[in-house]
Amino acid sequence: TIFEEAAEGAASVAEEIAALIRRKQQQGEQVVLGLATGSSPIGVYKELIRLHREEWLSFDNVITFNLDEYYPMQPDELQSYVHFMHEQLFNHIDIRPENIHIPDGTLPVEKVKEYCLAYERQIQDCGGLDLQLLGIGRTGHIGFNEPGSSITSATRLVKLDPLTITDAAKDFIKEEYVPLRALTMGVGTIMKARQIILLAWGEGKAKILQQTVEGRISDEVPASFLQQHPRVQVVVDQWAALEL
Ligand code: GLP
Repeated sequence: TIFEEAAEGAASVAEEIAALIRRKQQQGEQVVLGLATGSSPIGVYKELIRLHREEWLSFDNVITFNLDEYYPMQPDELQSYVHFMHEQLFNHIDIRPENIHIPDGTLPVEKVKEYCLAYERQIQDCGGLDLQLLGIGRTGHIGFNEPGSSITSATRLVKLDPLTITDAAKDFIKEEYVPLRALTMGVGTIMKARQIILLAWGEGKAKILQQTVEGRISDEVPASFLQQHPRVQVVVDQWAALEL
């Protein structure tokens, strides 16, 4: 769906998420959301906060799993995705703290494998992801699944692509302060979600979005694997759609 402005697209996605939450509430069920960081979902989170404040949308039945976290990363660091998620969403809504899951960037490396397996298991134990929200990196990454990630990849420790490190430098003052690695859900983890919404705003995303939507399905552009998902929506503004 192409919107003229990003704000309109964000509001429409927030409405859809709110409708899912309310529907599950009426059925007395929990809803499991996969959440993303970066600038792309901020407008959606803003709108969800507004719906919470002005239209009584409750997040009491919501369980969240975030896609990724830098590694290593302390949760109280300004650049951590734990910090981001609390600032942009969790501090402003009534979600239960025990229902929030974000990959732990503080683990010693020998614990990481076991932790990643447990993260996958936790998602499945909650019944799987009802909806996964995604941004896209200029390398074609979803989460931090950089080129070379397979369609069956699971939650794991990965190396960041040099272009991703360059793009992240704006948050870390200097490029050399950007962590070289990250923990991320895999492409396979994402593909198991029952519904996926990919967001892309601005001309900077136009080229990779064209390759994602219209290009060959290949691990060179991990987001292109989404073409094989039965229920995926790509929500963009007119600028990101320039090359479609
Ligand atoms: C980071 C995140 C991704 C996100 C990407 C794009 O690398 N790990 O999940 O999609 O950035 O960021 P932005 O939305 O700021 O363009």
